[in-house]
Amino acid sequence: MLNIIDLGTSKITGISVTESNGRQKVVGFSSKSTAGLKKGSIINITETSKSIAEVVEGLHKESGENIRVVDVSFSGELISSTNSTGLSTIGDKEVSIKDQQAALQTSIAMNVPGDKELLNVVPSQYIIDGQPGIKEPKGMTGVRLEVRTHLVYCSKNSISNIRKCIEEINGLQIRKFYFNQLGAAKCTLSNDQVDLGVCLLDIGAGTTDLTVFKNGSLIFSKVLPYAGDYITESIAIALKIPSSQAEELKKKYGSSISDRVADEALKIKGISGQTDIKVSRRLLCEVIEQSISNIFRSCQGCIEENGLQDSIPAGFILSGGTANLENIEELGSVITQNSFKIGYPEHEPPLNSEKLIKPQFGAPLGMVKFCAEEQNKEFTFNQSKGIIARVLDWLKSEM
Ligand SMILES: Nc1ncnc2c1ncn2[C@@H]1O[C@H](COP(=O)(O)OP(=O)(O)OP(=O)(O)O)[C@@H](O)[C@H]1O
Ligand SMILES: [Mg+2]
Repeated sequence: MLNIIDLGTSKITGISVTESNGRQKVVGFSSKSTAGLKKGSIINITETSKSIAEVVEGLHKESGENIRVVDVSFSGELISSTNSTGLSTIGDKEVSIKDQQAALQTSIAMNVPGDKELLNVVPSQYIIDGQPGIKEPKGMTGVRLEVRTHLVYCSKNSISNIRKCIEEINGLQIRKFYFNQLGAAKCTLSNDQVDLGVCLLDIGAGTTDLTVFKNGSLIFSKVLPYAGDYITESIAIALKIPSSQAEELKKKYGSSISDRVADEALKIKGISGQTDIKVSRRLLCEVIEQSISNIFRSCQGCIEENGLQDSIPAGFILSGGTANLENIEELGSVITQNSFKIGYPEHEPPLNSEKLIKPQFGAPLGMVKFCAEEQNKEFTFNQSKGIIARVLDWLKSEM
């Protein structure tokens, strides 16, 4: 059984799956709201640990299994990424696993700032003697093997805080950490979109995660530190109401296009026994339109700054809880001047996942597919070792 724990800013989600005949089946699901994270990073270890323990208990109850080992996925403003290349000489005319491993090792043997660590290594393509676009090089003939990789880093503190939260839970172990957008594409994007070139935007509560896929591979990722909570805070400030009420109004009466809503007065409870107050629904939606427009403009800016505007003919696909806002596709296409659609995790999802086909579960549901694929690989990047130990291992294996 494979167990994923996805740490979101507003909710922690657990999914347990089993696999038979190559198809996964959800046997446990649990999602609890949490106040332990901000912008994807842990701000309260006790609170986060408590929520994770509740989720693990939920998985145990649904699956009937004791949950001992989990894979942990997360995002956060302290995640960064870069593209790299690696190179090796093909030892015995045909590419072996060792040659592949050697190429990957050279792609990660670069300077990492002291406060960061390498989280995930995603090969996008192999090139043999100048021939690009190879996904599975093993057994192919040639002399020179190159690999293009996407490297994801995160702050050492983030990892250490997550570890502390999990260690507080009796007998629970972490197998591997993942940047959750690596999986998001697995169920939310179609193969055609990933081949043609597409930008997936996951707008959750704390972060907007932007990933670009082209020719079947991840070529760019960026985490922006504002999302649904930023919209809520903007409402709270503009209407002079507490954040909890702003959040409720946003979900119940919100729209991304303000002149589509009737200008009715919404009655809300006064705080600490004060009389009820009235707020304008039009004003509420103007604030929402303004703040979500700011987020979309930042995303568009990020695409342009990185020269990716011609790489996404399939446009933008939106996931994350904020995708539930009314009229969001229309606003997105006006601002980006591109196709802009909500993405549901509906592309070959695991069996028994009907209740998870919502934009806010795209990342955790895709992660169970991504993790299973990683587990089945003949080798993967070893997270538990530092870069020097890994390079030494490689040098030893070459001697
Ligand atoms: N109907 C709705 N209208 C507007 N916003 C909504 C609606 N439903 C959910 N949201 C917003 O979606 C956000 C939560 O999304 P999601 O569950 O994807 O976030 P998360 O995974 O917990 O956080 P993150 O990925 O940012 O760390 C919240 O800001 C919430 O207000
Ligand atoms: Mg999320």
